Parts: sequence; C-alpha cells; structure tokens
Amino acid sequence: MPTDRPTIIAPSLLPANASRFGEEAISIAEAGADRLHWDVMDGVFVPNLTLGPWIVADVAPLVDIPSEAHLMVADPDLLAPEYAKAGCSTIIVHAEAVTHLHRSLAAIGDLGVGAGVSLNPSTPPEAIEHVLDLVSHVLVMTVNPGFGGQRYIATMEPKVATIRQWIVDRGLDVDIEVDGGIGAATVGAAARAGANVFVAGSAVFSHPDGRAAAIAEIRGGADRESHPA
Ligand code: DX5
Ligand code: ZN
Repeated sequence: MPTDRPTIIAPSLLPANASRFGEEAISIAEAGADRLHWDVMDGVFVPNLTLGPWIVADVAPLVDIPSEAHLMVADPDLLAPEYAKAGCSTIIVHAEAVTHLHRSLAAIGDLGVGAGVSLNPSTPPEAIEHVLDLVSHVLVMTVNPGFGGQRYIATMEPKVATIRQWIVDRGLDVDIEVDGGIGAATVGAAARAGANVFVAGSAVFSHPDGRAAAIAEIRGGADRESHPA
C-alpha cells in the first residue's frame, strides 16, 4: 500500500563519468536529487568492482545533500566505519553478507549514522523482520545487484508491501527504498506497493531531457501514487 512518507530520490552515481565525479555529483544535486547513492562493490559479493571510501570523502562535501553507501561487499562490518568516516549519513548492508545481522546493524547505529538493510531479490522479507527496530530504512533490490541498466523485477512489489505493512503495524519510522530499474515506467508500481525512496541510475543519467527532467519525472510518478493531489 502507498505510504504518505516523503518521496526521496537518490540517484546512483554508478553511471557517472569517473573523471568528473565531483562535477557529476554537483550536477545531480543541482538537478533536484535528495540524496547521493554510492554503489560500493568489491568484486566478491557482486561480480563488479567500484569505488573506495576516499572517493566519497572527496566528493560528498561538494554537495549539500546527504550520501548513502550501498555496500555490496563480502565484509560490510569491516567497511561500514570507513564510509561513515568518509561522510555517508546512511550505511546500507546486505542481509545476505553478514552472519550476525542484528549485531552488524547495531554497530552501524553506534557509528552515529543511519543503518539500512538490503535484500536481494531471492531473499524473503522475513530475513529482516526482527531488525526493523534497528534500521532507518530497508532497501529492496528490484534487480540482482552488480550492474546498472537492468530490467525492474516487478515480483518484488509484494515484498515491499509486506515490509510496509509491518512498519505501519508496529508504528516504526522506517523508509522503504527500491533500487534497480527504477524510472518513469516503474516508479508508480513501486510507490503503490509502499516504497518512498527511489534509487535511479540509468533513468537519470541517460534521460533525453536531462537529469533535472528525469528526477522530476520519477518524483512525479511516485507522488501521483503516494501523495495524490
Ligand atoms: C545495482 C545497484 C543499483 C544500480 C541502479 O547493484 O545497487 O543502485 O546502480 O542502476 P539502474 O537505476 O540503472 O538500475
Ligand atoms: Zn544501489
């Protein structure tokens, strides 16, 4: 079910031109993004390798919107403090990447930043049912992690709806973020299911009318479902 929580657009910088990361981040912030989404991949948890904390440390201070680190890594307990130090206000770990998820999320909270937990497409929502009190948001993957430009997996919508119902029933202050294949054609269904935070990479960076138009289009598509006029 749709939520009345604020719509948040968090473009992924995975498609950004790495030779101009600073300018790209500034451009995304000026285009109306609410948050920067940093896709951190270690080539082990996912078959791709991206960026270290030093890049985030150099770029995050250039914009006045917060950064979140999406840790697609085999050892998030080791790396979470590095991305917090680099300036991320939210650290997202995958439930599948840790042995003791409750302890890992509590440790992120102890760093003084928001803890997020992410679920791969095949992971049931029950995997995070007992840690909802420790997180600021749940990230439901709507693609298999590792790459941008993939097709949205609509069968994740019931998972979003289940988690949203738990959050409402328990009166928790938790966002639900969807990540992967989000754009004008898919954001409405994700918002209807209960998501309020939307990651978009290719839909923002390759929009024919530019980044501001892309972000406005995604925001409008979400608000039409969750905040109907
Ligand atoms: C995939 C990443 C996503 C991805 C989104 O592993 O977590 O954030 O970059 O890219 P698009 O929006 O192109 O699917
Ligand atoms: Zn991501």
